[in-house]
Amino acid sequence: MALEEKFEKIKDNVWKMEREGRYFSAKRYQSGSTARKVNHIHDVLQEMAFPHIVSVVSEEDRMLFIQPWLEGAKAVNFKKRADRTDSLAALHALHETKAKHDWLASSYLHPYPLLMKWEDRIIRFRELSSAIEAYIGKGQVDEILFYALNAISIVKRTYRDHLNGTLLHGDVVHHNILRDSMGIIRFIDFDLACTGPAGTEIALWIHRVLPQIDYDIDFLFGEQPSLQKLDQSSKTLLLFPNELLREWLYFFTLSPSSRERQAKQLIPFTESALSHWPKLWYDVERINI
Ligand SMILES: Nc1ncnc2c1ncn2[C@@H]1O[C@H](COP(=O)(O)OP(=O)(O)OP(=O)(O)O)[C@@H](O)[C@H]1O
Ligand SMILES: [Mg+2]
Repeated sequence: MALEEKFEKIKDNVWKMEREGRYFSAKRYQSGSTARKVNHIHDVLQEMAFPHIVSVVSEEDRMLFIQPWLEGAKAVNFKKRADRTDSLAALHALHETKAKHDWLASSYLHPYPLLMKWEDRIIRFRELSSAIEAYIGKGQVDEILFYALNAISIVKRTYRDHLNGTLLHGDVVHHNILRDSMGIIRFIDFDLACTGPAGTEIALWIHRVLPQIDYDIDFLFGEQPSLQKLDQSSKTLLLFPNELLREWLYFFTLSPSSRERQAKQLIPFTESALSHWPKLWYDVERINI
């Protein structure tokens, strides 16, 4: 008899599935290479008993990725000290798995295309600039571009893409980092995983955290002693207004009615970021000395 399954749609390609009274997440991949990559990463991490992933339920259909549903799990909240501390420790642990596995030799993983991604973001932001001006004015659009262009020219000179290469999760947004009911941090959604410098992903994590702590870099580096070890080339990445570009590009993928709602948050978010950027720039240059 075929197993009876019930599905609750979470997103376009993600469902919460019930099978014989137990719950699972089910994700359908469009791309075979992403499905193989994500399966491979879980195989390797599971083999080394890495604690910060969710186990995988074996499935005949290789385009379907099934994991036990973490009942009561919550996305981390970067406003909370414990969530910052524990998610950063889990991220370090993920990067340190390179001691047990040569991720760089894996044919499933490609190097994180940081510069390409960021240059592409600047190009797309420029293309949308008059539409964005309608929301925040030319002054703020120019300011964002000014910071982005200055940062990328510094990053191009200083970025070291071979430093401390390892597995990167590739998308360290709060909703891909869950705290389960036992308090353990679990990474989900390795779709964008790749290889690259550990420091790059730590900088991307800091980008996500800064808006939640008033862009106070000094405070964060004081709170998280492991950040003191961050190399210069990775610290320089903090100059790039990554979240602003990403949020505005995402904004224009929304329907007009969602845009109106989102604008109410994105406009003050932009104002706040820009008001903090001169000090952030000063702080980053100072900690780079
Ligand atoms: N095993 C799980 N247990 C509990 N919740 C889960 C689990 N897997 C996924 N989720 C929930 O479903 C959401 C979407 O899953 P996932 O991140 O894999 O999809 P996605 O389409 O890649 O999302 P995005 O692109 O927005 O990051 C997660 O943010 C999380 O809230
Ligand atoms: Mg996700």
